[in-house]
Amino acid sequence: MRMIGVMTSGGDSPGMNTCLRAVVRTAIHAGARVIGIQRAYQGMIEGDFVELDARSVSGILNRGGTIIKAGRSEEFMTKEGRQKAAEQLRRAGIEGLVCVGGDGSFRGAIALEREWDVRVVGVPGTIDNDLYGTDHTIGYATAIQTAMEAIDKIRDTAASHDYLFLVEVMGRHAGFIAEAVGFACGAEAILTPERPTDLAALHKMLDYAAERGKKSCIVVVAEGDDAGSAFEVQRKLNLGPEHHVRVTVLGHVQRGGSPTAFDRILAGRLGHAAVCALLEGKRNVMAGIVADRVVFTALEETVTRRKESPANLLEIAAVLAT
Ligand code: F6P
Repeated sequence: MRMIGVMTSGGDSPGMNTCLRAVVRTAIHAGARVIGIQRAYQGMIEGDFVELDARSVSGILNRGGTIIKAGRSEEFMTKEGRQKAAEQLRRAGIEGLVCVGGDGSFRGAIALEREWDVRVVGVPGTIDNDLYGTDHTIGYATAIQTAMEAIDKIRDTAASHDYLFLVEVMGRHAGFIAEAVGFACGAEAILTPERPTDLAALHKMLDYAAERGKKSCIVVVAEGDDAGSAFEVQRKLNLGPEHHVRVTVLGHVQRGGSPTAFDRILAGRLGHAAVCALLEGKRNVMAGIVADRVVFTALEETVTRRKESPANLLEIAAVLAT
């Protein structure tokens, strides 16, 4: 394989740049050229390509975001869009693709390979950690660190003013961030999309906590919780004025920042593994790390199989928060 394309797709995540550097340098080391596909699938459709040499990825290993930009494309959802994209790849001489992204990006890659026989190796890059076939996705560790530091600060105010905070964290379809951050911050309750939220029980628990002398509480709400956003949860809970409820939505602050050491190591290993896999002839798989070993899982499985949270953090958190 002489020419490899690389893209960072979906929402950006800390460590995408680190992964890009690993992809570029591994490919060049093996004698292949690398084309960066800017703005992900939309850039692929438009042929927005740039050749990446070893120096073009200098100084990015510790930078958040992605220098080749990320994004989602409506046009790529159509068959015509995917045809245009495949033609652009062929015209540029791209023989294999490394797609760094989340489930939406992988669904796109699966369609591209099925309809146009494009060879793809995926790398899990999303703060949500919701891909089967890897213990961690690139960016998750940094995102939970960022959210934890923010909630620690909120805790200071909660404790100083006897406030009850509802803090919304990212995770449109998954509660991994909420679960980890809630646990790390000692949240009194953690609401995730994977478990039906019982607001009446939560109301009771918060009243009971107040009766037992808890002056302040933190409830972490995943963005995609079935009870709604943190503001909706506040409205539906309709707690009495004695609780002094405040709501904070952490939002996109969780997607940025310099990747943690864990994310840098993960991104470097997976970027390297993805290129080696393409060069060995693997296709239609995702490179992941399970129990500290690189493993390859069919892209189809990564998006259809449900990833379980490995530890029963919610149960333990409930005990520890009493
Ligand atoms: O996929 C990662 C993620 O951070 C989700 O948790 C969140 O819902 C989504 O991206 C928001 O992305 P955007 O604002 O870019 O559409």
